[in-house]
Amino acid sequence: MQLPVRFLEEMKSIVPDFDAFQHSYNEPPVRAFRINNVKIDDDKLLLAMGEHERVPFSPHCYYLDEKEKWGNDPIHHAGLIYIQEPSAMAAVNAYKVDAALALDMCAAPGGKTIQLASKVDYLVSNEINASRAAVLKSNVERMGLKNVAITNNSPTELEVYKEVFDLVLVDAPCSGEGMFRKSEDAVREWSVEHSEGCAFRQSAILESADKVLKSGGMLIYSTCTFSPRENEEVIEKFLGEHDYELVMPLPEIFPQTVCLTDERMRRFYPHIGRGEGQFFAAMIKRSGGASSLRAVKFARNKLVSDFLMRTLDHDMDYCEHNGIFYVPALPFELHSGRFVSGGVRIGKLDGKIFRPDHYFFSAYGKEMFCYEPKPDELNRYLHGEELAGDHRGYGAVTVLGAPLGGFKGSDGRLKNLYPKGARI
Ligand SMILES: C[S@@+](CC[C@H](N)C(=O)[O-])C[C@H]1O[C@@H](n2cnc3c(N)ncnc32)[C@H](O)[C@@H]1O
Repeated sequence: MQLPVRFLEEMKSIVPDFDAFQHSYNEPPVRAFRINNVKIDDDKLLLAMGEHERVPFSPHCYYLDEKEKWGNDPIHHAGLIYIQEPSAMAAVNAYKVDAALALDMCAAPGGKTIQLASKVDYLVSNEINASRAAVLKSNVERMGLKNVAITNNSPTELEVYKEVFDLVLVDAPCSGEGMFRKSEDAVREWSVEHSEGCAFRQSAILESADKVLKSGGMLIYSTCTFSPRENEEVIEKFLGEHDYELVMPLPEIFPQTVCLTDERMRRFYPHIGRGEGQFFAAMIKRSGGASSLRAVKFARNKLVSDFLMRTLDHDMDYCEHNGIFYVPALPFELHSGRFVSGGVRIGKLDGKIFRPDHYFFSAYGKEMFCYEPKPDELNRYLHGEELAGDHRGYGAVTVLGAPLGGFKGSDGRLKNLYPKGARI
């Protein structure tokens, strides 16, 4: 791999064992997966996938062999795993997190959101780019997460939520030096000027993060790049202008990472850790105030409640937005900005008919009638075909007992409700 000369010069002055670092670019990228415990236990899934070596610093995460391909497997379609580069799993797992309401400011495609959602009560997952926000939405939906609302705003637009969040994650857009083994585009697009532009933008994003964080809250910053100008220098500048204190990461993270200027700011290199490369640091805000959001307002609709009674055998509290009914991810009202998802969409009314949404089956499938197809039937379901079955009404197709998608049964047939865009 031909790496930019100026990049190598910069790295030579900071990377320990530079020859090994350079040599690592001849090795294939490392991948891992996280088991989605919202849907399945590790033991049950590993029985089906085979034993895999655990990623030592990330619960429920395991390394993948180079040749393994799970992207089109029913296990992946059903949201039982999320495939991610292992060093990208570190930032969220490197700290003891104690937060009710968290914000992931730069969230798509969602790897860190999925990790963070399991560690906090409620999460607002934001992505500035609309098409990337759509990918984030489909990943959160596939995983069946119930505590994640998704927004599509710039960091400055989010500043209306002044001192509201207990934790803010800024996984910042960066020059992507840790992506070089995975992406030729990242190598091609690299330049000092681009990296300087990223550093400027990263500082601006941290300013917005500071505004929305409560006093006593935690700010986690990460990038997948090595340049100090986008990492330690951004943090040091921020610390010089704000009243924050760096947090010591958990000991599990130390064997695979090193530091450059302060042991609380960690660097993951491809020749030292097992992964592509990351930088991360966390800080606690020591001054400022705290405010809270208004409680969410629920809606009532007979057709929606009847559907819930018939399908789940119980009603639920839900909200309505533009004709879509959803179980809110947060008990609070997000009063401003562009919404992508307020929570688990139950569905929408089409005249007097209620049309349920795929997200509802993915998140609540375990509570309704379930049908576990044999492998060939499962394959036909993923292709959008109808299955045979006696159930009347709505139900969920499952994989290893976990919900994949919905169907509507009548006259011995199970009409396929798996969304067209997700089919094989
Ligand atoms: C490193 S990626 C995030 C990866 C994500 N956290 C994950 O774990 O899957 C950075 C994200 O920041 C977004 N972004 C780009 N410019 C931005 C800006 N000015 N403010 C906030 N986010 C931005 C990008 O669209 C991208 O999705």
